[in-house]
Amino acid sequence: MPLIRVDATKGRSEDEIRNVLDSEAHLSGFNEVSDAIQFLVSDAETFAAVQVDTRDSFAADVITGLSARHKQLPPKYFYDATGSRLFEEICRTDDYYVTRSETALLRNIAEELAAGIPQGAALVEFGSGESAKTRLLLDAAPQLSAYVPIDISADALDQASAMLARDYPQLSIAPVVADFTGHFRLPAAADGRPRVGFFPGSTIGNFDRDGAVRFLRSARQVLGDQAALLVGVDLVKDEATLSAAYDDSQGVTARFNKNLLIRINRELGGDFDPDAFDHLALWNPVHSRMEMHLVSRKDHIVNAAGHTFSFRSGERLHTENSHKFTIDSFAQLAARAGWSAANTWISDEPRVAMFRLEPHP
Ligand SMILES: C[S@@+](CC[C@H](N)C(=O)[O-])C[C@H]1O[C@@H](n2cnc3c(N)ncnc32)[C@H](O)[C@@H]1O
Repeated sequence: MPLIRVDATKGRSEDEIRNVLDSEAHLSGFNEVSDAIQFLVSDAETFAAVQVDTRDSFAADVITGLSARHKQLPPKYFYDATGSRLFEEICRTDDYYVTRSETALLRNIAEELAAGIPQGAALVEFGSGESAKTRLLLDAAPQLSAYVPIDISADALDQASAMLARDYPQLSIAPVVADFTGHFRLPAAADGRPRVGFFPGSTIGNFDRDGAVRFLRSARQVLGDQAALLVGVDLVKDEATLSAAYDDSQGVTARFNKNLLIRINRELGGDFDPDAFDHLALWNPVHSRMEMHLVSRKDHIVNAAGHTFSFRSGERLHTENSHKFTIDSFAQLAARAGWSAANTWISDEPRVAMFRLEPHP
């Protein structure tokens, strides 16, 4: 669960501290937090902390998303334990070129990337999942002294951190379970160290343009003004290659998409029938993105999170966008967030890119 911390509470009453925690949590996009507030550190003289129950924001997002005229849900909810496992399976399919191309690229440029990592630095990864590609950087840059993987999926993070701790005993590994679009702090392991951010996997493509700019700005704040950020970006390519990647022939992506309904059933008392929906992946040329939807096969009613939602036959529930860029379009987007593209590397076909971003001078 994400942690929100308020410093300098000396002289404030418990009620005042609760109010500050509450409004910080709301500002970070969480709902219904009051009951979830716990004072984790008893020394209220210095600071207080609150853990925010993300189930409340899940319920709120499901109610809002399924009540909208065009039904939609944020893709971050794909990643429960099963969703994370299915994503790893997608990465191993022949059709999902993103992982294959990016891994091959990282293998080729690992030494070059490592040369730009300062002695004693902390590598901070956003949406680290199984941290598989990270190993290429860790192997090439033994000067790293800390690794901070951040992920919304506690299961994926726990497993990856345990394996890394075993394989890299000299590295301080400090995982953070958090929504990287919200408010969070880096752990003490990153304090006083130069920082390098790492955001592979084309996850940046899941944001709309403004959301991506907001994320890149907040990454700059989290990492500090001296940090570099390595971002993996998928490039625009032919529609057949794109469509196959988001609708693989083994049906793993379809199961990944439908798992969202199963998660709603389990966590929010829903009664979705996953077989009443078809997986749909389509290219949207206007927004330069692949989209994933679940398409209702019939008119029917679904209950979830204490609400009732009606689906018409053929109606779509929009579950994910995956924006595709050109080198220029991504560099322009990064510039809006205060980053310059200091270096760019492009993989073999199907092409993806890795950017080294540095703060504008
Ligand atoms: C597309 S996968 C990429 C995984 C890995 N970085 C890679 O390159 O293969 C997205 C990852 O980001 C995590 N994630 C998605 N949305 C997130 C959010 N809002 N906050 C934190 N992690 C998130 C998911 O749990 C998942 O591990």
